[in-house]
Amino acid sequence: MKKRLLITGYGGFVAGSVAWQADSSWEVHALSHTRASEQRDDFRYWQGDLCNTALLHKTFWEIRPSAVIHAAARADIDYCQSHQEEAARINTGVTQELAQLCNDSGAKLIFCSTDSLFDGQAGRYRENTEPSPINFYAETKVHAEQAVQQYAANAVTARLSLVLGLPVLGTGNSFLAKMSTALKSGKNVCFPENEIRTPIDVITLGQALLELAANDFTGIIHLAGSTRLNRYDMGCRIAERLGYSTDLITGTNSNVMQGRAPRPNDVSLNNEKAGAILDTPMKTLREGLDQVLKAKEKQDNEQPRN
Ligand SMILES: NC(=O)c1ccc[n+]([C@@H]2O[C@H](COP(=O)([O-])OP(=O)(O)OC[C@H]3O[C@@H](n4cnc5c(N)ncnc54)[C@H](OP(=O)(O)O)[C@@H]3O)[C@@H](O)[C@H]2O)c1
Repeated sequence: MKKRLLITGYGGFVAGSVAWQADSSWEVHALSHTRASEQRDDFRYWQGDLCNTALLHKTFWEIRPSAVIHAAARADIDYCQSHQEEAARINTGVTQELAQLCNDSGAKLIFCSTDSLFDGQAGRYRENTEPSPINFYAETKVHAEQAVQQYAANAVTARLSLVLGLPVLGTGNSFLAKMSTALKSGKNVCFPENEIRTPIDVITLGQALLELAANDFTGIIHLAGSTRLNRYDMGCRIAERLGYSTDLITGTNSNVMQGRAPRPNDVSLNNEKAGAILDTPMKTLREGLDQVLKAKEKQDNEQPRN
């Protein structure tokens, strides 16, 4: 019998890609907020607001998942800063509900947390570093991590670095999709020089999350690429790889831009633990970028031409 995998946030950038990578050992249950296009006959689709607790419980017990990859969240830092009640409800409250449900049912929980929960003063963070959030989004994720640790014994907190890739559905939270559309039309794209990251490509990330759903590891793990660089340099390297002039990439400092929530400077993650525990190798920026562009090419070639 197949294992049942519940993926929340389907229709978003990360979850869409994870779901599409699940192999045939999983029966995929894709839960989206608004209606997602039902493109796969082998998926079961669910729709609803996870903040509706009664609906969440009903859906969970109907599915009775063996594992849950919880990617749904309000992930826009500025939106969270100005909509704190809503952000806390979905990012922390729903994660706590799911942790309790997983504990009651015996399902394994894989919670998508973030690199942004560190203050960015030191960089190269390891799993045992205490979080030090500097904006409300990060606070909601720290509280969610605490709920996962408190309520779910069979759980993984996966702290994701900046995710690089092209979404399977819609555009979601993919900066690469937005960037390549802008470059195609000759527009400049602005990246902060002060933000140092260890970007991970969405395909490697999907493989790692699915591996964690299937293996025995529990605890905190950093899922991050092996290239550490600032976002302006990252933008230049991507532009070059896409065949555009780096003149279209401009640098800025995200913490002098008016009306924005504070951003941590260096939240690069140390990925040695992932390297030791997972069969999925963490990749360099170039390897990850090549991988997502090849997958996109393959997807385009497979689509029927009119
Ligand atoms: N992308 C990154 O670089 C990155 C980095 C670190 C961590 N993460 C974490 O990874 C996870 C996935 O991020 P992402 O980039 O895929 O974000 P995304 O594209 O914004 O997807 C998040 C999804 O969650 C759904 N959602 C929000 N509120 C909901 C609710 N009340 N009920 C049901 N669904 C709800 C959204 O649906 P609607 O839009 O339809 O409301 C959206 O489809 C998040 O937990 C994020 O914090 C992402």
